[in-house]
Amino acid sequence: MKKKKVSRIGIVTGGGDCPGLNAVIRAVTKTAIIDHDMQVVGFLDGFEGMVENRTVPLDYNRVSGILTRGGTILGSSNRSDPFHYPMLEDGKTTYRDRSDQLLANFDNLGLDVLVCLGGDGTMAAVNQLIAKGLKAVGIPKTIDNDLWGTDITFGFNSAMTTAAEAIDRIHTTAESHHRVMIVEVMGRYAGWLALTSGVAAGGDIILIPEIPYDIESVCAKIKDRKYHGSYFSILVIGEGAHPEGGKISVKKVVEGSPEKIRLGGAGNHISSLIEKRLQLESRVIVLGHLVRGGVPTPFDRVLSSRFGFEAMERIVRGEFGLMVSLRKEEVTTVPISEVAGKIRTVPLDAHLIRTARSLGTCLGD
Ligand code: F6P
Repeated sequence: MKKKKVSRIGIVTGGGDCPGLNAVIRAVTKTAIIDHDMQVVGFLDGFEGMVENRTVPLDYNRVSGILTRGGTILGSSNRSDPFHYPMLEDGKTTYRDRSDQLLANFDNLGLDVLVCLGGDGTMAAVNQLIAKGLKAVGIPKTIDNDLWGTDITFGFNSAMTTAAEAIDRIHTTAESHHRVMIVEVMGRYAGWLALTSGVAAGGDIILIPEIPYDIESVCAKIKDRKYHGSYFSILVIGEGAHPEGGKISVKKVVEGSPEKIRLGGAGNHISSLIEKRLQLESRVIVLGHLVRGGVPTPFDRVLSSRFGFEAMERIVRGEFGLMVSLRKEEVTTVPISEVAGKIRTVPLDAHLIRTARSLGTCLGD
């Protein structure tokens, strides 16, 4: 049977936003229009727009001037899992499988393929939709850099740059006041953001989820620095970091989200442990969503543009069910089924971990 030519594509941005989403939307739309004379429809607010049938046509003018803009012009949501979708019934929130509605809307709009920009939660949901017949291509997004199947996600470089700049600023005030300054950064269960921004900004102690910390080692490092004349310390902690044998700090549980647990509090927790043991002042700065905003770095703009272009290349070749990825500097693809349900954490023998140790950084163990 002859393959149906793709003429209309849908695009959706799912999960937490990050810099570079608009650069991808622009790349996909411009390539679709200029190279392939296709029509592009954007879904608003992630899977919510797909279930509720809320769309916007994307044309050349609509995507002009958005390359450097943070966030997503389409809106996003990280609490609208179509298979566990929140509905208000008799004043109460109940959760229903709305995937059939989503697929019916997609068909009724005359769309052939979905381009889906998202992290692990979004890819897992898309994988289930693919199993129900949806044609889709994924593009890996997240500041956490924790997606399986790609060396890097777009958004990570921008978030890491912002975090490093923030830690640089903390350095001078830490030094002036002889304090232990604790900077908590996002990243969920992976330490990429904390490790890279921490190394980039010369953090003295960097704590990541992959290496449960021993509070005595952390305190020993602070004391040792003092003994050698450095009366301040910079401690960078990933939100998923936790003490040996201790619990991860959970801030809240968000029902209806593909990833329900929201982390937070690791910085305050270690601050109280340090103050109790060393009788010195510490301050906690939670960078949180700050690193998700703002202009994407040139690196992310280029990566986003390449990912968007490659997604279109695959679509015109009739290759679906794939996620575009970067492997050893080459743009390639990986089956979404291989990515779904997995995360990529920092390997304990990573070159950057070995580098940090050799530079005298305490990693908490
Ligand atoms: O996955 C991106 C991320 O920013 C994580 O680093 C963080 O744990 C989570 O999203 C925060 O989610 P929310 O925006 O719902 O607070």
